[in-house]
Amino acid sequence: MPTAVSLFSGCGGSDIGLHASGFNIVLANDVLRYASDVYKANLPETDFRLGDVAEITAFPRADLLVGCYPCQGFSQGGVRDPSRRINYLYREFDRALRLIKPKAFIVENVSGMRHASFRHLLNNQITRFRMAGYRVSCDMLDAREFGVPQERHRVFIVGLRSDLGMRYEFPKGEHAQDLDTKKPFVTIRDAIGDLPEWPDGEFNTEKFHWYYLSRNRYRGWDECSNTIVAKARHVGLHPTSPKLKRIHTDKWEFETEGPARRLSFRECARLQGFPKDMKFPDTFAMNEKYKVVGNAVPPPLFNAVASALPDIW
Ligand SMILES: C[S@@+](CC[C@H](N)C(=O)[O-])C[C@H]1O[C@@H](n2cnc3c(N)ncnc32)[C@H](O)[C@@H]1O
Repeated sequence: MPTAVSLFSGCGGSDIGLHASGFNIVLANDVLRYASDVYKANLPETDFRLGDVAEITAFPRADLLVGCYPCQGFSQGGVRDPSRRINYLYREFDRALRLIKPKAFIVENVSGMRHASFRHLLNNQITRFRMAGYRVSCDMLDAREFGVPQERHRVFIVGLRSDLGMRYEFPKGEHAQDLDTKKPFVTIRDAIGDLPEWPDGEFNTEKFHWYYLSRNRYRGWDECSNTIVAKARHVGLHPTSPKLKRIHTDKWEFETEGPARRLSFRECARLQGFPKDMKFPDTFAMNEKYKVVGNAVPPPLFNAVASALPDIW
């Protein structure tokens, strides 16, 4: 079994996908305590180190290094500030890459990284990885094309060590809106239709404030969900809620008065493509559950990227 080291591992979205594609994850790391609780409950065989990645001075040998460094600085949900320290955690990934010298690496990040104001940071990452001795490929993938019932576009950077003489080719998804040749997108109904309609205690009940209603948070049963976010207050509506109608720019309101609720953290996990039996220990409050789920890489998407690596092990 090929081995992998995982950094910025969160609750294990990327690593569940990696595990499914046949990797033995020998080390994982994250600074967030609840992420570690969820990770260890679901991937108990991995040596999970809780703490700042900067404090890890020695890494085990591994064939593959993966890392999804934080994205607050680039993401629409975060503060778009290119100077924030959090935007530079890729240097820690680069440090690990040079120490481990794996045959391949995979990085995932938000699509905002390709935005003009951040392009220099993306280019800097690619340059560093090339200088570390890798042939680097970069592309943006649409999670829906890989069987995830959610609009989520993410940038992937994949490198193969130069001495292998190969370049990574990104996989093509099996799903599309154009049904001539592909399978249809998986829908919200497919993913959560079997779950209880009113799962008390599992969804955020804060008021729908003006910011919430500044965009369309509604998606119907037969659509894909909008992006699952980490902030509980901003999570989309469950499809049994009334639809929203646009009043004017940045202002939406409910079409009817019926009861409305946000998606539960468990529904969000399903819409991210986590397994049905994913465990969320009750060691922290609900907002932490939403947070680790919204921060995660959809496991089927990561699985597809890892499975497309050539057989170099
Ligand atoms: C985009 S999320 C990773 C998601 C994860 N790969 C998954 O699929 O579930 C980024 C993670 O980086 C972690 N993080 C932020 N700063 C860190 C640091 N200095 N050291 C270790 N982890 C850090 C955050 O707690 C967060 O879980």
